[in-house]
Formats: sequence, structure tokens, C-alpha cells
Amino acid sequence: MKILHKEILARSNNLYIIRLEIIAPEISRKAKAGQFVVLMVNEKGERIPLTIVDKDIENATITLIFQEAGLTTKLLGRLNPGDSLYALVGPLGNPTEIERYGRVILVGGGVGIAEIYPVAKALKEKENQITTILGARTKDLLILEEKLKKISDEFYITTDDGTYGRKGFVTDILEELLSSKIKAMGYKLVYAVGPIPMMRRISEITSSYNIKTIVSLNAVMVDATGMCGCCRVTVAGKTYFSCIDGPEFDAHLVDWEELKKRNRIYQDKEKHICNLYRI
Ligand code: NAD
Ligand code: FES
Repeated sequence: MKILHKEILARSNNLYIIRLEIIAPEISRKAKAGQFVVLMVNEKGERIPLTIVDKDIENATITLIFQEAGLTTKLLGRLNPGDSLYALVGPLGNPTEIERYGRVILVGGGVGIAEIYPVAKALKEKENQITTILGARTKDLLILEEKLKKISDEFYITTDDGTYGRKGFVTDILEELLSSKIKAMGYKLVYAVGPIPMMRRISEITSSYNIKTIVSLNAVMVDATGMCGCCRVTVAGKTYFSCIDGPEFDAHLVDWEELKKRNRIYQDKEKHICNLYRI
């Protein structure tokens, strides 16, 4: 649970995206693409889920990438190599179904880019043809460009402000790719991770082309073992727990409106607690 390396991957104003390499031999040995860990920074802190972005079995480490957003990620961002986490459990959640689909589009928005990386790697190893679309608010917040470019057959970047790549949203590129009839017929899967409005829009677009679309949901979690019910999501009208049934679901069946509301429940409290800690 000791931090071996720390790197600031991106920084824009007060927004930091940080990469930590953590010694975790058991997790490193077992982790598969799509799985996550739950960690606590200190004894009294909350438990937060983070995707396992990479692993190095030889060095017994796992890599986590996170954006400083609330209190816990800010406290995590203050740790340095040599410091230890209070608790770390994983790998949790179901691994991504890695098959030989053929042509696959991976869409990563903001810090969600970190989460498509292990999936892209695993799909590439299965000899899929990878089209990657990355989107960030601005050039300074774009992460993992080189790593993803290396394993992609086609590669696109958008920034909201036009400081890099194409000006606009990832969905602009997706719509263009799919509206080219011959290409649309060739894509077998879209895999997307990012903010809820992005995943929701992607789902709308791909459902009109009837292309299987998988999203990894960032539901609020507490125990991550199916006990508390906090991470419940409605998929195809049924209740599922994101931690044990997910975190990936069929985007076309997710109740996006409910997910949006549930993810906002603690927003005010989060701001209040950050103010209390002056962080
Ligand atoms: P962001 O707001 O910077 O957006 C990233 C990209 O998503 C944008 O550049 C754009 O291309 C696309 N996008 C955003 N809104 C869109 C819309 N309405 N339509 C189409 N495309 C859109 O993202 P961020 O700051 O990295 O993350 C914001 C939120 O996403 C946070 O609340 C975070 O918790 C959540 N998140 C979720 C996951 C997950 O597991 N699903 C992963 C990372 C982040
Ligand atoms: Fe408690 Fe999923 S986090 S049931």
C-alpha cells in the first residue's frame, strides 16, 4: 500500500490529474481490465473507488489516476512516494468482456481517458482494430495521449476550447464516424467512459445505429461489496449494484436521469466539507 511513484499528469488552474504507482502485489497479480480498487487515505476518511489503470506484476504495483475533486482525492493528492494508504482493497467489480469483436471505438472524456486505457490495451491484445476518441476541456487537461495513440489504429482528439485537436466534443467525431454508412456497419462495439452527459449522449447516438455500447459508471460507492445499496443503478428497469453487478453496463439500458440525480446527492456536502478543511 506504499506509494512508489507520483506524477502530475495534467494541471489547469486548480485542477490536477495525478498518477500514483502503488505497491500492491496481490491486486497486481489478479487485476483485469475494467476492475477497480477502493481505498481510504486515513482511518476516518471515506472510501473511494478508483479504476486500476495499469499493473506491473514484476514490480508488484498498480497504477491509479485520479482528478482532485472532493476532499478524499485532494488528500490523496497530497501523499508522496514513501507514504502509505490507510486501506486498499481489490480488485473489485467485473472485468471487461474482452473478445475479438473486430472494429471497436473507445471514447474517453476527461479523466475517463485513464479508464479506457486498460480496456484498449486488452482489446488490442485480442487483435481488435481500435479507434480512439479522446476529449478534454482544454489541452492542459489531456492525459495518456501517447500511450493510447500507440495502441490505436485510428486516433482523434477534441478539446472543448479548441486548444488542441478538433474544437468540440468527442461526440462530434463519433457522429461523423458513424454517419459514414460503410464505416458504421463495420463497428461492432463502442466503449465509453467519462462524465454522465457524455456517456448519455454517446448512448443516444449509438442506439440509433444499433451498435453495442458499454459504459463504466461512476456511481457513488461505500462498501463496494454489495452491502450498502449506495451504488444502485437502474438498468433495463431493474435495480443493480454498480460495485458487484458492474461497473460496466449496456449504455442503451441505463436510466441516465436517475444516475445523474443520485450522483449529485452529496455535492453540497462535499463542498461544505472541503471548505471546513480549507482544502
Ligand atoms: P469533462 O467535463 O472535462 O468532460 C470531458 C469530455 O467529455 C469533454 O471534453 C467532452 O468531449 C465530453 N463531454 C462533456 N460533456 C458532454 C456532453 N454534454 N455531450 C457530449 N460530450 C460531452 O470531464 P471530467 O472533468 O474529466 O469529468 C467530469 C465528471 O465525470 C466528474 O464528475 C467525474 O466524476 C466523472 N467521471 C466519470 C467516470 C466514469 O467512471 N464514468 C470517469 C471519470 C470521470
Ligand atoms: Fe455498497 Fe455497492 S457500494 S452496494
